[in-house]
Amino acid sequence: MYQWDAREYRDSSSNQKRWALELLARLELQGGERVLDIGCGDGEITAAIARMAPRGFALGIDSSEDMVELASRQYPPDRCPNLGFLLKDAREIDFTGEFDAVFSSACLHWVKDHQPVLSGVRRCLKPGGRVLLQMGGRGNAATVLAAMEEVLRLPRWAGHFEGFDFPYGFYGPEEYRPWLESRGFRVLRLELVPREMRHHGGSDFAAWLRTTWLPYTQRVPESLRESFIAEVVAAHARVKPPEADGSVRFDMVRLEVDALKGD
Ligand SMILES: C[S@@+](CC[C@H](N)C(=O)[O-])C[C@H]1O[C@@H](n2cnc3c(N)ncnc32)[C@H](O)[C@@H]1O
Repeated sequence: MYQWDAREYRDSSSNQKRWALELLARLELQGGERVLDIGCGDGEITAAIARMAPRGFALGIDSSEDMVELASRQYPPDRCPNLGFLLKDAREIDFTGEFDAVFSSACLHWVKDHQPVLSGVRRCLKPGGRVLLQMGGRGNAATVLAAMEEVLRLPRWAGHFEGFDFPYGFYGPEEYRPWLESRGFRVLRLELVPREMRHHGGSDFAAWLRTTWLPYTQRVPESLRESFIAEVVAAHARVKPPEADGSVRFDMVRLEVDALKGD
């Protein structure tokens, strides 16, 4: 398990929030739905769902205690009666026929085996319920991964990466379609979507690495972490130099899934 710092994530996740809100608009909620948000993080997006479903309910689940604690504190039930948060792993969704829609943004690439996730998603939806997911997909963040690989092989870091396995489930439609169809989902849209991410300078980029690239950064002892991150930023600048205004552009690839639960 990785240790998320919920406050740091909240303060450096404008790119992820923008993507989530764009995806959320596609749900076209009518106002009375019950929606499950998988990997809700600091709860900002789940709260947006709750505002779009004032007569319904939004439940955010997340496997990080720090995230759930911050989300619950920021959006307490007395102020947000149709919004709740629960500590729960995406692979252990155990609701039955309760939700009109399941939403997830920037979470599921943290899970390698999507079979238990999709079984839980199917079970928790009402017949005809909608599933709308966005996650890192095949080819995602290739320049960051190349820079990470270069640095972690250096003799001064290699010892911390013994037995290291690629941590993410970056899949494409070819893998995902059979997983959906074998569970009776009707696929409406399933595609890899290129997305640009921008960080304004090295310190912004370093903050992104520190807050979300945990499978790499948390391999390194805390006292050495900042120098590891600085080396990755420098290695990345060699692969992809910053632009004239100092900003760094990342070519991200998201797998987007839009499907309906069959009867
Ligand atoms: C990048 S954050 C995205 C948060 C939020 N969806 C957003 O768009 O801002 C990824 C979240 O996924 C959660 N996560 C990772 N693996 C998970 C799992 N197996 N089950 C539930 N949540 C998970 C993390 O704890 C983290 O809060």
